[in-house]
Amino acid sequence: MDAGNEEGRIVSMNEQENDGWQYSLRPRKLSEYIGQDRAKDNLSVYIKAALKRGEALDHVLLYGPPGLGKTTLAGIVANELGVNFRVTSGPAIERSGDLAALLTNLSERDVLFIDEIHRLSHAVEEVLYSAMEDFALDIVIGKGPSARSIRLDIAPFTLIGATTRAGALAPPLRDRFGVIERLDYYEPQSLVEIIKRAAEILGISIDERGAKEIAHRSRGTPRIANRLLKRVRDFAEVEGSGVITAEMADAALGRLEIDKIGLDRTDRRMLLTMIKKFAGGPVGLDTLAASISEETDTIADVYEPYLLQLGFIMRTPRGRVVTRAGYDHMNVPYPDNGGKNKQNDSYYVEESLF
Ligand code: ADE
Repeated sequence: MDAGNEEGRIVSMNEQENDGWQYSLRPRKLSEYIGQDRAKDNLSVYIKAALKRGEALDHVLLYGPPGLGKTTLAGIVANELGVNFRVTSGPAIERSGDLAALLTNLSERDVLFIDEIHRLSHAVEEVLYSAMEDFALDIVIGKGPSARSIRLDIAPFTLIGATTRAGALAPPLRDRFGVIERLDYYEPQSLVEIIKRAAEILGISIDERGAKEIAHRSRGTPRIANRLLKRVRDFAEVEGSGVITAEMADAALGRLEIDKIGLDRTDRRMLLTMIKKFAGGPVGLDTLAASISEETDTIADVYEPYLLQLGFIMRTPRGRVVTRAGYDHMNVPYPDNGGKNKQNDSYYVEESLF
């Protein structure tokens, strides 16, 4: 996924350059990993079974929105298996030779993690098929009529692939994963636990209600929860007693213009533009992008997913439409006229956002 121009956006689900500090918060064992109970329980069984048989774990595909801990979970699997964890990504493997080099360097039962696996090139994917299925590489030597293919054995390994779009994976690749697990947005209670755990590690004082206030504004995403925690701490230390209470968190997040459900200024600007300038839609992505001066891809990859998830906007064949829930959240009366001749001029909307 293209991160668009959202570098520095505090509610971005994508990893940002200055997120490195979050690595120290990553759990290393399944027992420390909070939430995603279904995936965690299933993986725990598969890990135990593989260990019992002394075999490599079946290949695993993890899919779901960014920031939910796919890399973390893959690292935990390797750790629980007691093997090496090698990390790469679809776009980083440019040629099939790059993949062959990675595969031939693996030891028995190692985990190879490929992030954004839907972005592998077709040629690289082809090499992966026989590697996954037969633990073998078919290498072509020479060119033209004298070219011949030799088969090279590699150590049995586990591929863990991660993707935000399981549907974008070529079916032959998808079929080669024995285990497919979806990660979901976290429940607020899981985020509360994650925030309290991170606070403990970072030496931040926070009470239960403070953790709840941050959890509800974190878009179901630990990566965002941890970022908000760090920013709120600054306000608590400079303008409060140093303890993150609900009141402190509310005041700090208000200053950051992050509302009660985690929408930031740009999310709200997009919703209001759709309501005010386009009568709630339908509006085409390109038109919308031009009106709020954002790239089309940035809207599709960055802003839309959470608004769609909340049910505030819908994709229709004629463009994007704001739903009743979206109007309600923006405090604008929903035009109850079957969607025809909608006039929004009479409502109050926050002009300062434009
Ligand atoms: N930090 C980020 N994600 C986490 C998770 N799922 N469990 C515990 N700590 C985390």
